[in-house]
Amino acid sequence: MASLPYIVGNWKMNGTRAMLPEARAIDRAAARFPKVQVAVAPPATLIYRTREAAELIGVGGQDCHTQESGAYTGDISAVMLKDAGADFTIVGHSERRAMHGETDGVVQAKAQAALAAGLAVIVCVGETEAERDAGQAVAVVSGQIEGSLPRGDGVVEKVSVAYEPVWAIGTGRVPSIEDVAAMHAAIREQLIAIYGADGAGVRILYGGSVKAENAAELLAVANVGGALVGGASLTAESFLAIVGAAA
Ligand code: G3H
Repeated sequence: MASLPYIVGNWKMNGTRAMLPEARAIDRAAARFPKVQVAVAPPATLIYRTREAAELIGVGGQDCHTQESGAYTGDISAVMLKDAGADFTIVGHSERRAMHGETDGVVQAKAQAALAAGLAVIVCVGETEAERDAGQAVAVVSGQIEGSLPRGDGVVEKVSVAYEPVWAIGTGRVPSIEDVAAMHAAIREQLIAIYGADGAGVRILYGGSVKAENAAELLAVANVGGALVGGASLTAESFLAIVGAAA
């Protein structure tokens, strides 16, 4: 059975308690779209309150530590995210890779920690503009997939991949439909190589300047199983327009 399209809002470092009505509005409206799986990843400070405010949608973290607990000032473990009410976490977002020096190995360890804590995980990959211009986009993403994805029995059901070209994030630029199709097909092939036949069921989200205006076209591409949405997820109105496009 084909899985539902998965539309995830990544609020990044945006939002105080004043955002909770947006979460509530998204949750209420989600009932109108039973054929779409909807989730938001608010800042960690809002996970508990968002979970309280929302009953239907998924609530997730944007990152987690590799360890369960310890002397890691300022960090948050997957166990803590789970305790706060999260269902999943994003790992390996390009902003974490670039600004916090996260390697594929670190991202993989975070993904394993998330799964061990009982969370589902969205593993992000994507090439820079220079890498695409050099004709290396598929090779770079393939290396990230190989090095970042969690392994082990039973993990495949809890894993999604988000393909986010770095140059498309927050820029208003998106790859051509052909390039999205080619990258998602390459990722699919690799998922099957890693996970066997179950790799065919892993959802591969597209992320990078997804808006109501381009969502339907992107979501119609083969092997695009949803969207990871940044800027356009910050109001219920713009996010729900994307959810509507997926329905
Ligand atoms: O996690 C979300 C992505 O980084 C996309 O962000 O929709 O603002 O381009 P954006």
